[in-house]
Amino acid sequence: PHPSITVFPHNRLNPISRDIYSGFLEHMGRCITGGIYDPQNPNKDLLIQPDNFRKDVIEALKPLDIPVFRYPGGNFTATYHWQDGVGPRSQRPTRLNIAWGGTPERNEFGTNEFMVWCREHMHAEPYLCLNMGTGSLDEGLAWIEYCNASVETGSYWAKLRAEHTGHDRPHNVKYWGLGNEVWGPWQIAQEIGPRTFAEKTMQWAKAIKLLDPTVKLILCGKDGISAWDYEVVKHCVVPATESDLGVTQPPLIDYVSIHMYTASNDYHENVFAPLAAERAIEATAALIDLACVENNVPPGQVRPKICFDEWNVWDPKRAVGSKGAEERYTLSDALAVVVWLNLFVRQSDVVGMACIAQSVNVISPLMTTQDSVIRQTTWWIYELFCRFVKGYQVNVVVGGVEEYQGSTKPAWLRDAMKGRMKWLDVSACVDEEGWCCLSVANLHKDEALDIDLVGMGKSVDVEVYTVSGEDVDVTNMDGQEKVKIVKKGWKAEGKYTFPKHSFTMLRWRM
Ligand code: AHR
Repeated sequence: PHPSITVFPHNRLNPISRDIYSGFLEHMGRCITGGIYDPQNPNKDLLIQPDNFRKDVIEALKPLDIPVFRYPGGNFTATYHWQDGVGPRSQRPTRLNIAWGGTPERNEFGTNEFMVWCREHMHAEPYLCLNMGTGSLDEGLAWIEYCNASVETGSYWAKLRAEHTGHDRPHNVKYWGLGNEVWGPWQIAQEIGPRTFAEKTMQWAKAIKLLDPTVKLILCGKDGISAWDYEVVKHCVVPATESDLGVTQPPLIDYVSIHMYTASNDYHENVFAPLAAERAIEATAALIDLACVENNVPPGQVRPKICFDEWNVWDPKRAVGSKGAEERYTLSDALAVVVWLNLFVRQSDVVGMACIAQSVNVISPLMTTQDSVIRQTTWWIYELFCRFVKGYQVNVVVGGVEEYQGSTKPAWLRDAMKGRMKWLDVSACVDEEGWCCLSVANLHKDEALDIDLVGMGKSVDVEVYTVSGEDVDVTNMDGQEKVKIVKKGWKAEGKYTFPKHSFTMLRWRM
């Protein structure tokens, strides 16, 4: 039989969490200062006053309707003391950002500036990551009380917040990360072992949920496929408990976080590498299931979802500015991003949130120059998914398409994903308005693929969005949009030719 893609638009599998399109801002290189907040920019027309926020960055990101932004790191959180970043700017201390080369951090952009940017400009939910490196539980609790307590309680921290912001409204921060990559040798105050960290996490989580039971807590896993993940998930995914005083503690952990970055100078390794993340998600989901069985978590208790709160194409050795963090994305990287986003859709039963690392300049699809923004190759993929891939994941079957047989990065990927490394990487969804959307990357560098399309119906009007380029190494960083979205209309006729090294999104009404 001829190679085919069969879509079953009525076979809804899982809701796709909007939060898979979340963002991330870190005090690292030019992400915040120079990206979000740019007081030194001589082109004052570009800035929104009184905050000195980059207007063009807000205007670029806003249409993507990004639901959540994670802040303030990343590795930066391991030494971040939130009180340095609140109150009158003139009194805020300058500290050295030792996570990122000891650069001076003037703390001009802190919690309240982030809330204005995130809530008022982006209409997004904030997600704050707690300092579990050099920070104390007491300091973490104070931050949560500062953000979430109402002034009517008389809380010292709530009153201080009101004094700083000039209004009584709490920030109501729902998402709190329990540390960042505390397992990493590069971490300041690296945890000595998963068991110690898991015990500390449970202590912190219990206290935090006593203070504010409405928050959602994110456990610090690793990459999903490690002894660290096994230990922390086993120890922290436990049943809700009732204390001697009759107080019911909600489940302490709401999400398990994992991180991964992929990249290779070899085209095929680069575009297939994100499949390692799909494997990591499956492994993490299995660990959560195992913990629920071993710890007798009752069937009715909501299980933690996976929060893939750092993902992207990144190799610090090839990235240049911001100390190894400003990537010049190629078309090859854009196709890798298709695989990343497709796999979040395919794994939507277990992935509750994913944050692209990061949202501006640092490892980002969006770059700033002094006077403008540049949308990199990967931007157009992110934009198409944010706009159109929503609602429900639906069943889609790829038949008869050959598999990639070459080397992989990491090497274990070849065996782990055997049977799934096809030249076409695919996902499909339907949204609430009845639009069906098929997302197809043809990862073959040199060959267009003729494919039978089944399940779409004949003569249906289809919107076709294509992202491709002359060769896989083109970038947009010289200011020309060599890679961008090309849109056309098409009457479905049962077959489609997917161009070599391209992304195609087909959208039609059911
Ligand atoms: O996103 C850049 C860095 O990568 C983050 O600070 C850290 O968590 C990860 O190692």
